[in-house]
Amino acid sequence: MSNSYLNTNYDLLPGSYLFSTIAKKIKEYQGTHENADIIRLGIGDVTTPLIPEVIKAMHKAVDEMAVKDTFRGYGPEQGYDFVREAIVRGEYTARGIEMDPDDIFVSDGSKCDVANIQELFSGDTRIAIPDPVYPVYLDSNVMAGRTGTLQADGHFSEVTYLASTAENNFQPDLPKNPVQLIYLCSPNNPTGTVLSRETLQKFVNYANETGAIILFDGAYNCYIQDETLPHSIFEIPGARTCAIEFRSFSKTAGFTGVRCAYTVIPHELSKLRAMWNRRQCTKFNGVNYVTQRAAEAIYTPEGWKQTQGVIKGYMDTAKVIRQELTAAGYTVFGGEHAPYIWWKIEGGEKSFDFFDRLLATCEVVGTPGSGFGPCGEGYFRLTAFGDHERTKIALKRIKEKL
Ligand code: MLT
Repeated sequence: MSNSYLNTNYDLLPGSYLFSTIAKKIKEYQGTHENADIIRLGIGDVTTPLIPEVIKAMHKAVDEMAVKDTFRGYGPEQGYDFVREAIVRGEYTARGIEMDPDDIFVSDGSKCDVANIQELFSGDTRIAIPDPVYPVYLDSNVMAGRTGTLQADGHFSEVTYLASTAENNFQPDLPKNPVQLIYLCSPNNPTGTVLSRETLQKFVNYANETGAIILFDGAYNCYIQDETLPHSIFEIPGARTCAIEFRSFSKTAGFTGVRCAYTVIPHELSKLRAMWNRRQCTKFNGVNYVTQRAAEAIYTPEGWKQTQGVIKGYMDTAKVIRQELTAAGYTVFGGEHAPYIWWKIEGGEKSFDFFDRLLATCEVVGTPGSGFGPCGEGYFRLTAFGDHERTKIALKRIKEKL
């Protein structure tokens, strides 16, 4: 086969996907340390089992699949009405946000949706992304050839970066250059910080004035503890004419292995909504029935209560991480409205070097900040999704050995 047929944009990607790189490093360490007792606070993967209401709904749905009259084949590509309506009730109506179930597109993950949405835009669309942020936004645009080339400072030449750092209180400024697509993530992965209402309003106004589209990733919104902070971009006046929102059951309900999420495109964005619908109908056959019944179950009164209990458990772990690291004299951000703690590395050590040192001295794994963008250099992300008791052991090791 000739290489000239290949999408050479892939050659522009730096190394492997961040979490694959981390997994490889752990495997290498295990290869040389047979008895290693590694505590993984790296990838944000959940560890608490599915709630009983979800399990009950899944069992019932499986039984329905065994009976001719209730068996289901292909479902609607956009998701069954029962789950789209439950999402609107539980996530939007409950917060005083008007939303039409037809604006909800159920999918098998926000990762796929945030990576795929850029297909709706032309090759020369200019993008802005927060720095640091979840690497999928950038990587998917690199693959599509929209980013230019990687510069010595770690930035891609054609991308506008929205620095979100301690210096600006993690509230990025508007893009300095004209852009048509703006990615925002709140609570932010990796910093665990939340965009204020004022910041979001500023971006919504900018988008409406310039015709830009905001791609708002709210995968961690259920961890926001302060009810006055915005959970959804659609709480912001004017957002319906400029924003698309991504939400996931992965972190809300422990569905990282089950796979279910949704994307919200308001009917005010009718062209984009029609295009996404066309894309999904062509490339996607919907989420399986059992999973959609499972997702619906978190919105029953009992399901909601149980879900909040699991979220509280993770937030208790986040609190312990924050408290222990602070007590040990470290500077940390996040962890109050998100399951991620953003740990400042002292003394100018590079975040990948710190990863190696933490693994070697404490057998604790986290995620190097620079993997999320150049502004992440000098920081390290710990997840609160790990087992509570094991996380406490990790912190003890950090205090004693690092
Ligand atoms: C993370 O650790 O950032 C997430 O688990 C990645 C994801 O949600 O895909």
